[in-house]
This record gives sequence, C-alpha cells and structure tokens, in this order.
Amino acid sequence: AADLKTILLEINKKAAAYYYYQLRQETGKKALEYLQKRELSEETIKAFGLGYTGNYSDGLYRYLKSKGYSDQILKEAGLFFFDERQGMKDKFWNRVMFPIMDVNNRVIGFGGRVMGDAQPKYMNSPETKIFDKSRNLYGLNIARRTRKNYLIICEGYMDVISMHQAGFTNAVASLGTALTSGHASLMRRYTKEVLLTYDSDEAGQKAALRGIPILRGAGLRPKVVNLAPYKDPDEFIKAEGMEAFEKRLENAMNYFLFEVQVLEKEYDFNDPESKTEFYRAIAEKLLEFPEELERNNYIESISKKYQILPEDLRRMVNNMALSG
Ligand code: UTP
Ligand code: MN
Ligand code: MN
Ligand code: MN
Ligand code: MN
Repeated sequence: AADLKTILLEINKKAAAYYYYQLRQETGKKALEYLQKRELSEETIKAFGLGYTGNYSDGLYRYLKSKGYSDQILKEAGLFFFDERQGMKDKFWNRVMFPIMDVNNRVIGFGGRVMGDAQPKYMNSPETKIFDKSRNLYGLNIARRTRKNYLIICEGYMDVISMHQAGFTNAVASLGTALTSGHASLMRRYTKEVLLTYDSDEAGQKAALRGIPILRGAGLRPKVVNLAPYKDPDEFIKAEGMEAFEKRLENAMNYFLFEVQVLEKEYDFNDPESKTEFYRAIAEKLLEFPEELERNNYIESISKKYQILPEDLRRMVNNMALSG
C-alpha cells in the first residue's frame, strides 16, 4: 500500500479539485462574486486554484468516500471532524478556499475565508503528517521562480495574491502563524534579502519586530516597508496601484533604523532626561555591530536623523563597550 503521506497528498489534491469545481457551480456563485468584488481576475483565481466549499456540511466527505477512502484515513487529513450524532462532517463549510502548496506545488493544506464578517474570518487546516506550518510559506511555490533578488513577506493570503496579481510575484506569507526560523531558512535558500510588508497596525509592527532577529539569524537582510496610511499590501495596491507600491518597496527601511524608529516612540524629546535615555538606548543597541565600519555607518545615519553629533554618540557607545 502507498504510504500515509502519499495518500494524504492525494486527498488534499482531490479536495482542491472539489473546491475548485464547486466555485463554478450555481451554489458557488456568491463565492465567485466575492472574489470578483475583491478584484481578483479569472487568471489569478486559476493561478492560485481558489475554490469554494459548497453548501453542504459533508459535501467533501461524501465526495471522498465515493472515491473509496476510509474514515480512518480521512481523519488524518485534517479536513473533517467527527460529530457523535451526525458522524463525519466537513471542517470547512460555506467558505472561499485557498489551497496551500509546498514548494513542489503539492497541496498540503487549506485556508478558508468567510464571505462576510463572521468569526473566525479565516480557518486553516491543522498540522498533519504533510502540513508543517512552521516550514512552509504560502506563495513560495510561485515566488521561488522570481528573477528579483529579494522576497516579500506579508501576513495574509489576500496580500500574497494581490501582490502577485500586481506583478510582485516574489511575495509569500506565513500561514496564520508567527514567522519561525524554519520559514527564515526556507527563504534563505532562494534569497539574501527579505522585505517585510506586515500590516501597518500595532500587531503588524510587533510581528515585524519579532521577525527581524529571526531573519537575521538565518543570514537574511530584512527591510521594512511602510504601508501607511493603508492597512496591508492588498489595500495599498487597491488604493494606490502597483507603481506607488513599487516606490514603497524601493524605500524600504533598514531594519535597525526601523527598530530605532519604534524605540523613539517611548521617549519624549522635550524632556532632556528622556532624550538622553533614548540616546543611551540607541548606543546600547549599536553594540550589536562589532565591526567598526558598520557601526560608524549606523552612527552617521542616526546622528543625522536624531539631532545628535556623531562624536557624542560614538563616545557613548565606546564607553558602554568598555564598561560592558
Ligand atoms: P488579517 O486579519 O490581517 O486578514 O489576517 P487579511 O489577510 O487582511 O484578510 P482580508 O483582507 O480581510 O481577507 C492575516 C492572516 O492571518 C491569518 C490568515 O492567514 C490571514 O490571511 N488569520 C487571520 C487566521 O488564520 N485566522 C483569522 O481569523 C484571521
Ligand atoms: Mn510545526
Ligand atoms: Mn492583521
Ligand atoms: Mn490584513
Ligand atoms: Mn486584508
């Protein structure tokens, strides 16, 4: 018999085909309209294999049973749950479906979005024998073929799809989880530079701050893209278009300067004591650059931006290094 992983890949592939087919049926009309309302072209819908669950609470289950799979195997797929009274039911119901592919274009799981404001907005397949969320990135199966020398990382399925549709086919997303070192080393196979385009809200900023050391740890150069006043890449591109977005990518901020910019918000420049503390905090952070030239370059940028003489900042860093 074929091994479990092979069968699970086969089940996921059949599920993706089922969802894709449902999107084209009469019952899928509202899902198709939803995707059109979000300005996705037919070509984009096809390229990402988007689908619809259909209206039945066990449509996929019955379809796969008709293909001869046992309940025991289907339970391993993460696509069903067992109800004491009603038996096996589909986990995803009345949702737009996003198949998640590994770098070899094999379907390993799904994300599903409600079409209205119900919660939870997105549901994802649980981890299974073939779906490790910390080692796969949405969109990387396409992004790996990019000719650009950097990858773009964002939060969401729709952000990846919007960016690809606008020509930024080097965009990927983690799958409803925080960025891991597994994601970072996966990206490092394809590039040295990663542009962060997380949401411009507080959660997105926190995610960027957490992601930076993880990316650096894998030997990547992170930069942070400013999307304000829009919330995420999808909304930015819809409002301002691809050329404006390209400019934002070009102006992506050095990760260290981004960290300092976030730090700045904790201090009050009108208070000399607070201002001094801010410079101390910067000086301490500058210690992370042991190489003199690199440190000096940062000192130069920072002194220009934050009204401090480079000599003063350098002296502060050197004193800390000595007492450290
Ligand atoms: P967001 O809440 O930023 O949604 O979640 P979004 O991607 O902008 O969605 P749209 O534009 O309203 O469709 C970002 C990502 O976090 C995960 C999903 O992977 C989503 O794409 N997420 C979000 C979940 O897993 N569950 C949720 O309930 C919400
Ligand atoms: Mn894991
Ligand atoms: Mn968000
Ligand atoms: Mn978002
Ligand atoms: Mn969004």
